[in-house]
Amino acid sequence: MSAYGAAVMMGSCHQNVWTKGPRGIRPKVLAPAAFWRRHHRGVSFGAPCRASNVEVSESGGTDIAPVNTIVDYPLSEVDPEVHELIEKEKMRQFNCLDLIASENFTYRAVMEVSGSCLTNKYSEGLPGKRYYGGNEYIDQIETLCQERALELFQLDEGKWGVNVQPLSGSPANFEVYTALLSPHDRIMALDLPHGGHLSHDFKRRVSGTSIFFESMPYRLDESTGLVDYVMLKETAILFRPKLIIAGASAYPRDFDYYRMREIADEVGAFLMMDMAHISGLVAATAVPSPFKYFDVVTTTTHKSLRGPRGGMIFYKKDTVHGVDLETAINNAVFPGLQGGPHNHTIGALAVCLFAAQSPEFKINQLQVIRNRKALEEILLQLGYNLVSGGSDNHLVLVDLRPMGIDGARVEKILDMSSITLNKNSVPGDESALVPGGICIGTPAMTTRGFKEADFRLTVDYIDEGVQLAIKANSCVKGTELKDFMDFVVSPDFPLKESVSELRRKVQALTNKFPIPGV
Ligand SMILES: Cc1ncc(COP(=O)(O)O)c(C=O)c1O
Repeated sequence: MSAYGAAVMMGSCHQNVWTKGPRGIRPKVLAPAAFWRRHHRGVSFGAPCRASNVEVSESGGTDIAPVNTIVDYPLSEVDPEVHELIEKEKMRQFNCLDLIASENFTYRAVMEVSGSCLTNKYSEGLPGKRYYGGNEYIDQIETLCQERALELFQLDEGKWGVNVQPLSGSPANFEVYTALLSPHDRIMALDLPHGGHLSHDFKRRVSGTSIFFESMPYRLDESTGLVDYVMLKETAILFRPKLIIAGASAYPRDFDYYRMREIADEVGAFLMMDMAHISGLVAATAVPSPFKYFDVVTTTTHKSLRGPRGGMIFYKKDTVHGVDLETAINNAVFPGLQGGPHNHTIGALAVCLFAAQSPEFKINQLQVIRNRKALEEILLQLGYNLVSGGSDNHLVLVDLRPMGIDGARVEKILDMSSITLNKNSVPGDESALVPGGICIGTPAMTTRGFKEADFRLTVDYIDEGVQLAIKANSCVKGTELKDFMDFVVSPDFPLKESVSELRRKVQALTNKFPIPGV
C-alpha cells in the first residue's frame, strides 16, 4: 500500500477552507492537524493530503471533494521529525562558539527570500533570454542582483560582467575552467596542504578539477609561511600553465596580486582569483581588491559576505588571450554545467549585496579584522606558534606541533566544549587526517556581536581546551587517533568534568549574543 493510502486510511483527510480574518486570507483547518502528528511515523511522504481534496475509502475508491482546499501547514505539523532536528541545530548554533573561518550567520531577510516562491520558477538562460515564459519578475531580480554585485565591488559595467547563477563556490570554479580550458590543460594553484582548495587542484585525482585538468601546485615557503613566489615563477616558466589561480581556504595573508599578474603575463596564462573567503572584506575595502589585476574573480556568497549559499563569477568584458570571457563563462554556466538557476538564492543574494553596501556591513567587516588582531595578539602572548607569524585577514592558522599535540585531537576536545573550529594542515605536515594545526576565524562570532574582549576570552577557552587535549592524550592507551577519539567519549574519561565545565563557560558567553535571523 502506498504511504498516501496508508495515511489516509487511518482517518479522513482534512477538509480545509480559506477564511478572511484580521491577518488576511488564511486557511481554516477543519480536521485536527494532530492527525499527522499521530500518524507521521512510518509514513514515508509526510503530507500527502495537503492537496486534500481527495477522500479515499477503505476499499480504495475515491470521492472527489470540492477543489480550492489546498492548504499548507507549518513544518512543525507536516514533519515534526525534520522540524525537531532543525530546532536542535538552531540550539547548537546558539550555544557554540563558531570559529570556522568559512561560516557566518546570514540575515533574516536573506532567509526569507531563500524560502520564498522564487524556488518554484524555471528560468534557464539569462535575463531577457530565457527558455521558459513567466520570467518578467525573475529577470528583474537577476538583473538587480548583477547590478548590485558590480556596484558593491565598484566595477564599471562597461568593463566587467558577472554571472550570479553558480550554485556554489566549487561549481563556479569548475565553470571558469570549462570556459577557459580544454580537458588536460594545465592549472597552477596553491597546494591543498598549504591552504589551497580542492576545487583548484590536488595531486590526488579526487576532485573534478584534478580528474579533468593537469595541475602543478605552488607552495608556501615553509620557513616563512608565505607563498613562495620565486618557486611559483620558476615552476610556471617550466610547466607553462594556461591558468594560474590565487586565493585559498586557509591562508592568513594577502596574496601579492601584482606579482601574480606579472608571472601570468610572462607565461601567457589566464589569471583567476578565488576570493571566496575574503569577499566580504574586499567589499568593505578591509583588504585589497583583486579586480585590478585579474581576468576572472570567483567567490562564494555565504562566507564573509554573509549571503545565501551560492557563487558568483566576475569576468573582464575585454577579450583575453583571444577568448570572449563573457560568452565563454555564461555558456559554461548554462548550458555547460547547470540547468535552471536557483532563483530563491539569486533573490537572496540580491538582498545580501544590498545589505553589504550599508555602513553597518563595513563596520562589521572592520570589526572582523579588529577581532582577528585581538585573537592573534593573545595567542602570541600565550606562546602559540602562528603560521606566517600572524595574519592580514579574518583567520589565523595555529601550528600546534611544538606543543606536542595535533589539530584533530584539539578539534575533538573543543567540539565537546561547544567550540567549533577545524583542524588544518600546516606547512611541513605529513598527514591530512591528523594535521598539525587548527584554523580560527572571526567572521561568524563578529556577526553575533563579539568584540575584542570577547575574542580575548575566546582565546582563554581555546587554550583551556588545548591543555585538556594535551592532558587527555597523555592518559590514553594507544597512539592512534581512534584510541584518543574512543577514550574521550568513554564513560571513564577522567577529564569529563573539566570538559563540561569549559562547555558551561563557553555557553555562558555565547548565550549572551543572539543569532541574526533565527
Ligand atoms: C577558496 C574556496 N573556494 C571555493 C570553495 C568552495 O565553496 P563551496 O563549498 O560553496 O563549493 C571554498 C570552500 O570552503 C573555498 O574555501
